[in-house]
Amino acid sequence: MTDIVIEGGDPLNGIIEISSSKNAILPMIIASLLTDEQVSIKKVPHIDDVYNTLAIFDYLNINHCIDENDTLHIYNQKNIINKINIPSNLTVKTRTSILFLGALINRNKQISISHPGGCSIGKRPIDIHIDSFNILGIKIEYDDNNILCTRKARHNYNEINLKIPSIGATENIILASVISDSTTIINNCPIEPEVIDFINFINKMKGNIAIDIVKKQITINGVATLHNISYQAIPDRIELITYALGAIITKGEITIKNANINHIQTDIGHLKNIGAKIKILNDSEISFKYTNSLNGINLITTEFPGFSTDLQAQFTVLLSVANSISTITETIFENRFHHIAELQKMGGKYQIDNKTIKIYPINQFKSAELNGIDLRGTAALLLAALNANGKTIIKNVDLVYRGYNKIEDNILQCGGKIIKISK
Ligand code: EPZ
Repeated sequence: MTDIVIEGGDPLNGIIEISSSKNAILPMIIASLLTDEQVSIKKVPHIDDVYNTLAIFDYLNINHCIDENDTLHIYNQKNIINKINIPSNLTVKTRTSILFLGALINRNKQISISHPGGCSIGKRPIDIHIDSFNILGIKIEYDDNNILCTRKARHNYNEINLKIPSIGATENIILASVISDSTTIINNCPIEPEVIDFINFINKMKGNIAIDIVKKQITINGVATLHNISYQAIPDRIELITYALGAIITKGEITIKNANINHIQTDIGHLKNIGAKIKILNDSEISFKYTNSLNGINLITTEFPGFSTDLQAQFTVLLSVANSISTITETIFENRFHHIAELQKMGGKYQIDNKTIKIYPINQFKSAELNGIDLRGTAALLLAALNANGKTIIKNVDLVYRGYNKIEDNILQCGGKIIKISK
């Protein structure tokens, strides 16, 4: 396990290059199982969720390597032997391990995996995956240990109405139906940039998928085979805004390179309302600067293009040191406030009322000894520690490495004082 010590109170000033998006890359890596030809994904971030996904490739005897330019090459997918179960020690580390069901059911009539893991931000049920697979003619049975998938029939037309625009379920449906002789329609689909990038990736492999972002409908026209690809995923918008908040909360200025401005329009609007100074330097560079005060605002997490649930904890930290009361309502996950107890140790003042957190302003966080929590919650604690004077220790910080590439290096190069203590 890893602890980190942050000596906060200094402004973060500098330039940070954003990595490729974790939530775009993970389904792309798993989609490489849909072809026997080489798949190369450029600028893969060195994060634990990538390593945990590749550990399952090792279990399946699939060759892969990350070269000196951080390009991931995957080949010899033919090696997939008839493994009937991917064990829990491998699937429990990521939520996206559930996507192996959709990818592997193309190769075997029956496969099973142990339950997926992921951040403990709610129950994270899989009923939408199950209902959707049933419509595709794939029966899913599960008990406390395994999820068993059996291909029962193939229909030439499937229509799936998602009760919630589930990102993971949508990606699983695509994986399970893109190689077929059927047409599959998904209604009420998510339109997050990561889902659109994943569809672009599959289409570049010669898939045939259309998405109508106005109707929120995906049409999957099955094809016989998918082919080799070399691809670079979109930048990670959640990582980007996390560092933008770091600049503002430490009264500094950070210029972000490799940004996709279209993906962060909502967040730019919120940060302007809070009072940050934002300069769009060109279509992939943007700077964020503290001005002289921060206004409280009210936010509600919703699907894209709304305010992302993956930024809820980080904005809670920034709004804690605004000059007026704010509220954030979390509508996506039912248990994503674990960071509040830790922030209260630093003097943060909050009132939780069901799905809404009321944030009372404080001047500055106080340094404290904290415990790491889920991925985005731990990133939020880092921001609070950078704001506080003195030394803050965050114990068991490891979950932050699931989604933030070189986070200590980025903070150090912007003048932050952070030391990693591996135990
Ligand atoms: C993806 O998770 C992201 N992860 C999450 O990011 C993100 O918070 C989430 O989408 C929502 O935007 C990846 O892409 C790897 P969902 P996913 O299925 O696919 C409920 C991060 O920090 N639901 O869209 O698991 C579910 O409980 C992570 O990078 C069901 O009820 O999210 C949630 O309330 C955290 N039944 C809502 O839908 C199901 O079968 C949205 O979940 C599936 C989901």
